Amino acid sequence: MSDKLVEVALELEMSLGESPVWSAAQQTLYWVDINRGTIYAWRPASEAAPETMTLDEKVGCIALCGESGDAGLLAAAASGLVRLRLPFDGQLEHLAANPEWQKEQHEGQGNRFNDGRCDAVGRFWVGTIDAEESQPSAALYTLQDGALVRRLSGIGISNGLAFSPDRRWLYHTDSLTRRILRYPYDVESGGLGEGETWVDLEALGLPGVPDGAAVDSEGCYWSALYDGGRVVRFSPEGELLAEHEVPCPHPTMVAFGGRDLRTLYITTATQHLDDPGKASWPAAGSLLSMAVAVPGLAEPGWTGR
Ligand code: BGC
Ligand code: CA
Repeated sequence: MSDKLVEVALELEMSLGESPVWSAAQQTLYWVDINRGTIYAWRPASEAAPETMTLDEKVGCIALCGESGDAGLLAAAASGLVRLRLPFDGQLEHLAANPEWQKEQHEGQGNRFNDGRCDAVGRFWVGTIDAEESQPSAALYTLQDGALVRRLSGIGISNGLAFSPDRRWLYHTDSLTRRILRYPYDVESGGLGEGETWVDLEALGLPGVPDGAAVDSEGCYWSALYDGGRVVRFSPEGELLAEHEVPCPHPTMVAFGGRDLRTLYITTATQHLDDPGKASWPAAGSLLSMAVAVPGLAEPGWTGR
């Protein structure tokens, strides 16, 4: 079987769809609309519309909680990390404050959280985004014993976090640089080695910026090219293996789901489209999907470590 065409899985009008995460235990896809603070839960096998919960601030990303991902959701809200219960009941448990958020000021003052994910032992990594999306004022953190520990600084837009299945590498991008880096990674201690440029969109002549990612069971890295209108697949050596056009300019992130992890879900954005742009790209803001030949990997949940 070869990869199929990209389709609309669920028609939506999201501003900034992001952070799709598949729970194998619940056969449910979760994702967010960052700008509206909405978290979605959807069982593709059911006829039902997605359930949603909306916070009163932006939500950069989510992760499953618990080893089998059935102990709620961790959400990276602008002001800090919270845990939500499932099914959604409106309750929030505060886990850690965002060190780059000024509470006494108004919403929008400070760097909100952006992309994040758990590593193979359930440690949560999360980055921030410069409020103007232009200066290297953001950072990358791990959540350790209830506190956010700064691991990398000087970032503009933290994105593309993923881990190689052999546990040797952490992938990360500062979208502003159009490069994806990889860092030698010791998953037991959480230690990072020296980063190296692994993929350079400029050198490959690829459009847009690298946004969210997921790694498949062959260790290949799928990246959504925001403003590049495609998702691309790189080998573990960083070679470009495949390019799939999507029916809108701003795909944001990918996740493998479905019973056999052979459905690639793709979130999209409308935030950078004007009205004529939205009219030309009716699928923008929807949840997209594509049947793929190589399955993905189960997403680890946050284990509280
Ligand atoms: C951010 C957006 C940004 C996009 C492209 C996303 O992860 O949340 O605000 O425009 O990346 O860099
Ligand atoms: Ca992102």
